[in-house]
This record gives sequence, structure tokens and C-alpha cells, in this order.
Amino acid sequence: MKIAIGNDHAAVELKNCIKAYLLEAGYEVDDLGIGEGEKIDYPLIAEKVALEVVNKHSDLGIVMCGTGIGVSISANKIKGIRAACCSDPYSAKMSREHNDANILCFGSRVVGDELAKMIVKNWLDAKFLGERHLRRVELINKLDER
Ligand code: RB5
Repeated sequence: MKIAIGNDHAAVELKNCIKAYLLEAGYEVDDLGIGEGEKIDYPLIAEKVALEVVNKHSDLGIVMCGTGIGVSISANKIKGIRAACCSDPYSAKMSREHNDANILCFGSRVVGDELAKMIVKNWLDAKFLGERHLRRVELINKLDER
């Protein structure tokens, strides 16, 4: 499974930590930036990761900024994206099981490295449960047309 990852300047170290964690766990990683010493406004990196996911170049995406909020709001503007900003492992698991989230967001100023790894693990290990949740996700997807 291939995961696209991205971050703004507030989350370079956290991104490096999550990248190493994903590679160690056996995932293929497409790091869309940014690196140390670079700067980017968060909507731009969120857009990059979101397009990578909707265009099926990666299976899922993970985007980090200071809070996770800016990148999640931005990614959700792209048709077909269901980005969840999660600061705890339970919400991360539920965002896959119930909401079929295809992008996970969190913030370097909110979660530390170890909690972030638990959030990522819970998110990636969880599977969409379908059934009644499918109807609701389809209703979310219809909102893309409004
Ligand atoms: C950048 O300082 C900060 O605004 C950004 O990383 C993020 O927290 C926005 O939601």
C-alpha cells in the first residue's frame, strides 16, 4: 500500500518521524514535502496530497501542519477527499471504520511523535465497515456536488 505524505513548515520533524515509521512498517511512501528549511502555506501541500489520492497515485494520504486543522479543511475542498483531523487513536480508527477517511491529518503542536505513531497505526489498521456507513459516506460524497 502506498501512502502520500506531506507537511508544512510547522511539521517537518513530525513528518520525518512518521515517514520513518511507515517505511519501517513496510508501507511504500510518497513524500511530497516539504523538507527542513523550506516553507509552504498549508493549503498548497494539502492540495498536493489530496490530488495524489483522488488521482489514485497513492492509496491514502497523511498531512501534517501545526494543528492538523488547516490541512484538513483544505484537503476536504478537493472532490472525493474525506480528510479527518485526529488527535487520538480512537478517532483515527473510527474515521476509517465509519467515515472511510482517505486522508489523515494531525498537528505537530498538538500531538507528540509517539502519539502520532499510534494514531497512524490505528488509522491504517482499521478497515471501512460498509453497510449503514456506506449509505452515509455516499451522502457525504453527494455533498461534493453542492
Ligand atoms: C503555520 O504556522 C500554522 O498556521 C499551520 O501549520 C497550521 O497549524 C494551520 O492550520
